[in-house]
Amino acid sequence: MSDAPADPALRAAYRLCRRRTRIEDPAEYALIQLVPAPLRPALHALWAAANALDDLGDDRTAPAAERAARVEAWIAALHRELPTGTSPDPIRHALVDTAGRWRLDLSDLRDAMAQVRDDTEGRRFADWAEWRAWGRENLLPWFAQVRAILDRAGVPVALRLDTRESYEEFLDGVRLTDILTDLSADLAQGDLLLPAEALARHPGSAEDLARLRWSPTVSALVTDLTGLARRWVGQETFTRGMHPGPATVLHTMAALLRAQLDAVDAAGPALLRTRPRPPLRTRARILAPARTRAALAWSLTPLTLPPSRPPGAPQPVPAPTRPAGAPVFRRPPPHPSGERPPAIPAARLPTHVAVIMDGNGRWAQQRGLPRYEGHRAGAAAVREVVHGALEMGLRHLTLYTFSTENWQRDTEEVDAILGLLRDEVTDNPFRDLDVHMRWHGRAGRLPPDLADLLHLRERTTRGRTGLTLTMCIDYGGRDEITRTAAALARRARAGQLDPDRITDEDFARHLPHPDMPDVDLLWRTGNEQRTSNFLPWHAAYAELHFTPDLWPDTDRRHLWQAVTAYTHRQRRLGAESPNPLSL
Ligand code: FPP
Repeated sequence: MSDAPADPALRAAYRLCRRRTRIEDPAEYALIQLVPAPLRPALHALWAAANALDDLGDDRTAPAAERAARVEAWIAALHRELPTGTSPDPIRHALVDTAGRWRLDLSDLRDAMAQVRDDTEGRRFADWAEWRAWGRENLLPWFAQVRAILDRAGVPVALRLDTRESYEEFLDGVRLTDILTDLSADLAQGDLLLPAEALARHPGSAEDLARLRWSPTVSALVTDLTGLARRWVGQETFTRGMHPGPATVLHTMAALLRAQLDAVDAAGPALLRTRPRPPLRTRARILAPARTRAALAWSLTPLTLPPSRPPGAPQPVPAPTRPAGAPVFRRPPPHPSGERPPAIPAARLPTHVAVIMDGNGRWAQQRGLPRYEGHRAGAAAVREVVHGALEMGLRHLTLYTFSTENWQRDTEEVDAILGLLRDEVTDNPFRDLDVHMRWHGRAGRLPPDLADLLHLRERTTRGRTGLTLTMCIDYGGRDEITRTAAALARRARAGQLDPDRITDEDFARHLPHPDMPDVDLLWRTGNEQRTSNFLPWHAAYAELHFTPDLWPDTDRRHLWQAVTAYTHRQRRLGAESPNPLSL
């Protein structure tokens, strides 16, 4: 690297990352060689860190509980070390240095890393939607870090909205190729990382694979899957309009993946015993011209490199703020009346407001309209209230959008609500606002395209720090608690938790969304005074606020009134004297 670190320990750390990449994944190493030399150490550090963590989670010499604890300790150490810019562990040392130099926000990797810990218990997928969500959660954030490095280097890898899906499918193809390549190692450990839906298309294949028996049905399954992976890695439309440097790397990656899939197909029964590799001459045929093309492509743009540091100078703490070049968000449009939000100091605002949006049906009925029109008017009220939440500086707004009980409504109404949601999430009215959108609820029962869209919005708005807007869709409080209890039971059965010592905190950590803060204010419109299975864990101490207006008649001023009323409550939280934050 041109800006080689003066610290010998750091130089050794980067060397170790490069060596691990070269030895453990020569194809990945060859791809990194296609980017300009000053960028390579950061990519080696990212690759080595992702793999070191995977190895910790996968090391079958230790029981699952111990592996999970090791992964957790590794992640906790990383977070402690990030502000210091150094680590006694060489791979983390290179990673924290990379994060500091390139101003990466590694908190975006939090979910992907936590997934490695959760995977120590083994994984099963009912269908492709579940499999895809798992793979994307794991892979996309790491690729996003690589894109952030390229952005900082002056080679932005912007993805157009209409090509995102092909990018994400490409990564599904990367994941599937990886799983097929590593089939023998996974089976030896009793793992089979394929969805039940795919196995069911070839009856008997799961049993044959478990017994390491190469049968016609297993062969047909493998042919099906290599075909699918080839389709996914074959559509590189997302590289259109991209800088030719990264585009060349991605095209070469696709060619190497296709060669790998050919090797999987050619392996036959050996696939269950060894890791197939494409012949060296095939790789050379792909890589030799790619090197020439890449050298030419990168020469078109001078790179911007991070400033060098004097030896021994502490690494700057990665800025939690938005990275340079990120969009500047629009202000929400004001309310037509010109009314402004009440001036409430941030310390007195509720952190988390949750809303039961009731009354859509009655609103429509009062006007002689179909119920669908009530929901449509309700969606407009959602936009209004989100604008009001941003204007007053709320951090978390959670909306009860579709409950686990709502499936019992007429199919026509269910389809109408889900269709409306699909339209809203596609239109993306909060596109230019500082809103991080999240989905909270059961995975697996929503139409897969809607689930994919919700995941997509969640990922693409992840760096936004203004308002976190959580839409509870196919959400039920009892369902959430039951699933949490099941997760705890699984960990207890695996010897990872002592049932006699389970605390509130343990429970909270196993909730499907452990980072959701407690609800401070629970507001229900529509003149009903119930909490209806909404966020029972989080709202245990919430102030309740019930209003008579039907949801479609609601606007941001009602939210402001609800929050103002909240500031007049005395929050004791079980203590004798009022909470000092209350008025
Ligand atoms: C309750 O009213 C409301 C719902 C079950 C659906 C809520 C959906 C929306 C507001 C539209 C989409 C939202 C977003 C976030 C884009 P109800 O039908 O139970 O009314 P009723 O009690 O008068 O029958």
